[in-house]
Amino acid sequence: MPNPPRCPVTSFDHHSPEHSRDRVEIYRELRTSSPVAWTESHGGFWILSDYASVFEAARDDDLFSSQRHDEYGGPGLSVTIPKAPTALHIPIELDPPNFRAYRKAVNQVTAPKAVEGLDSRIKHYVTGFIDMIIEKGEADLAIVAGVPATVTVDWLGLDPSQYQTYVDAMHTLVSAAPGSKEYQHAAEVAVPWVSKTVREHIAYRRLHPGDDATTHFIDVEVDGRKMTDDEIYSILELVISGGVGTTASLVTQSLVWLHENPDQRQRLIDDPSMTDIAVEEFLRYFSPTQALARTIMADTEFQGCPVRKGDRALLAWGSANRDPAQFEDPDTLDITRWPNRHVAFGIGIHRCAGSHMGKAMAREMIRQVLARMGDYEIEMDKVVPYPDQGTNAGYHSIPVRFTPGERLLGDTPLFPAHYTKAQ
Ligand code: HEM
Repeated sequence: MPNPPRCPVTSFDHHSPEHSRDRVEIYRELRTSSPVAWTESHGGFWILSDYASVFEAARDDDLFSSQRHDEYGGPGLSVTIPKAPTALHIPIELDPPNFRAYRKAVNQVTAPKAVEGLDSRIKHYVTGFIDMIIEKGEADLAIVAGVPATVTVDWLGLDPSQYQTYVDAMHTLVSAAPGSKEYQHAAEVAVPWVSKTVREHIAYRRLHPGDDATTHFIDVEVDGRKMTDDEIYSILELVISGGVGTTASLVTQSLVWLHENPDQRQRLIDDPSMTDIAVEEFLRYFSPTQALARTIMADTEFQGCPVRKGDRALLAWGSANRDPAQFEDPDTLDITRWPNRHVAFGIGIHRCAGSHMGKAMAREMIRQVLARMGDYEIEMDKVVPYPDQGTNAGYHSIPVRFTPGERLLGDTPLFPAHYTKAQ
């Protein structure tokens, strides 16, 4: 497609090794020279990298559709480029008006009041995961990444002791390079396992209601009727994939940064009440979900560029969060920055439904790591970042040493028998 100079064709590829090595610099150059640009990568798409374009696109659901359109860019999840091979995800792959009733049903179990009810469970799992390593004095700090998976799976009434398989499935799809061995394994083995297990769980809960979020989705009415198993599955797969990788990505990056900035780590140790505001800044600075996609629904002009119906567009939340037009000194992580109008959770009607849950988990993980093993030292040359940082950024492995401490759960089992496994 011929583009005027202000909408150039670039070689941008968020899944390339160069991008994973220095995504911040690549986005800075793009944002400065051509905030709306076209790339031929992955079948071709527009890349929106400044705050103004991302903000405008995310709030224009008529032009920038989230709906699954298999005829444009092939089959699969509409909000990733390339499209991930997942089931339909509800509500993220719906446009208004269909979107609204489903989102209302999700909000009922993710609103701040509902998340307050999860506080003790979050605390329990964080305590238990740190207990696994606390007496040893050395460990892989990335173990805390198991917490979001465990909390999410438990919240749905699934077996939390199987958390690792959910991580392997959902997290790998957004942290491994498309086409890599890990990615193929996730798509061909782990995802089908999750699908079978979750579908069996829905069927079981229809017969044996519990007090979990799955039971809520079975009971709740959407536009005056109950949802089908397929619709419920579409929601559950989304919350598992939304809940598992993103919070782990946020926490692992924050812990590495706190190691590299010991004075700031000491401030949070001395005054844990600063953690809430610091987490907002970690969200802005690290942007765990780096970018998500839309499909353009009309031939028109957007920010001076000639977009066409069916074009795909990538909204780079991570780049918008470093835009100097919106944030003073954006490349400095200031744990006291406020106000902080970051778009790490997206913006507009699809803004993250799990933001309160994600933040509650991140705060507890960071607080407990700092309170119980606050002198941790990371072996930086052995740290393993995600091989692909295009959609989710973060670390697979963070080897640390620290002063050993005491286990706190005592005889309380990490995985209590309060869930009922699907038969
Ligand atoms: C730090 C943690 C998290 C980050 C950075 C994050 C990021 C995002 C982003 C950027 C979106 C916007 C999608 C779009 O506009 O296309 C989103 C949507 C969503 N997230 Fe999260 N998320 C996090 C945690 C969670 C958790 C823990 C859950 C599970 C409950 C969750 C569930 C969802 C759902 C259901 C949506 C779709 C909302 C809709 O389409 O209306 N997220 N998230």
